[in-house]
Amino acid sequence: MGEKITVSLIKADIGSLAGHHRVHPKQMEMAEKLLAEARDSGLLLDFRVFHCGDDLQLLMTHRRGENSSEIHGLAWNIFKEVTEKVSKPLKLYAAGQDLLAEAFSGNIKGMGPGVAELEFEERGADPLVVFAADKTEPGAWNYPLYKIFADPFNTAGLVIDPSLHGGFKFVILDVFEGLEVELNCPEEAYDLLALIGTPSRYVISKIYRKDGLPAAAASTSRLSLIAGRYVGKDDPVCIVRAQHGLPAVGEVLEPFAFPHIVAGWMRGSHHGPLMPVPLKYAQCTRFDGPPRVVALGFQIHSGILEGPADLFDDPAFDLARQRANEVADFLRRHGLFMPHRLGPDEMEYTTLPKVLEKLKDRFRKAQ
Ligand code: 13P
Ligand code: 13P
Ligand code: MG
Ligand code: MG
Repeated sequence: MGEKITVSLIKADIGSLAGHHRVHPKQMEMAEKLLAEARDSGLLLDFRVFHCGDDLQLLMTHRRGENSSEIHGLAWNIFKEVTEKVSKPLKLYAAGQDLLAEAFSGNIKGMGPGVAELEFEERGADPLVVFAADKTEPGAWNYPLYKIFADPFNTAGLVIDPSLHGGFKFVILDVFEGLEVELNCPEEAYDLLALIGTPSRYVISKIYRKDGLPAAAASTSRLSLIAGRYVGKDDPVCIVRAQHGLPAVGEVLEPFAFPHIVAGWMRGSHHGPLMPVPLKYAQCTRFDGPPRVVALGFQIHSGILEGPADLFDDPAFDLARQRANEVADFLRRHGLFMPHRLGPDEMEYTTLPKVLEKLKDRFRKAQ
């Protein structure tokens, strides 16, 4: 066992190029420069800037632990500065979209940006997979995280490898009540599924091996619940550690060979398949989608990030992409009809209620 480090992935949509399509290269350039200054000042060990669609991703390593006000404040200030100096002057679309709070208050959670953080002791070799998705919500990770850490038909190691055989502990957040619950798998797998099958409400936030080893962290913010209205989807991020007593990298990627249906897509109001893509295709087009996910692989040594390996840049995921396109096409034919369009509970946070309000007075008692 080695030294303790923290990996923080903090992201925000602060304006984009051509509607909600992608981050502007000048936004990335400025974020790179500001993060390099933070590394040179000693606050960060290392960093990477990337994007998934219109979401700017700041991947940082440091020794300040999870929920550090210095690290969160750094990310907040970068999002603010890039908004002021790039998004606004270039009139990028929805400049500063996810920055819902007026001023930074010590922890970026609940202020709009998404956060996934994991503090751990570096092992002899520590592979890490970082996921980012666009045009969907944090509950989109429920299905793949369950497959990776609880389903032996996905993760052979759960059966074969004695160091995984004991199973994993899941922390689930009820995003409406702000309450969380811990459930152990495999013993409580049915209880876990009873909750996380409702991904709009119950969201996996952390996963530990039974002996306490931190295994995964996911972002959980729901913008509409913070703002009370539709602002954009809460395009989520997730960090998963792999190998040596954890699922192998291939087991971590395996669930994405099935492009499961998630909520998001056009106007955050539609169900669609989650398409695994390389970075060069991490940009949404058709009907502002279909929703996308990228996976970046790293090795970490003393907090320094080796990588990324662009893990979905592989023909092994061609079939998933083709299926995603077929499913997208099939769903699109439903137009405004459910289940392509989200159900009424979810639509409450869109502009649809305004339209319904207009019709209210025209209803009369049925004969
Ligand atoms: P506009 O009203 O600016 O077209 O925004 C619609 C939209 O993109 C919903 O997220
Ligand atoms: P984002 O959440 O990615 O900004 O997308 C919003 C949207 O309305 C797309 O149609
Ligand atoms: Mg956007
Ligand atoms: Mg987005």
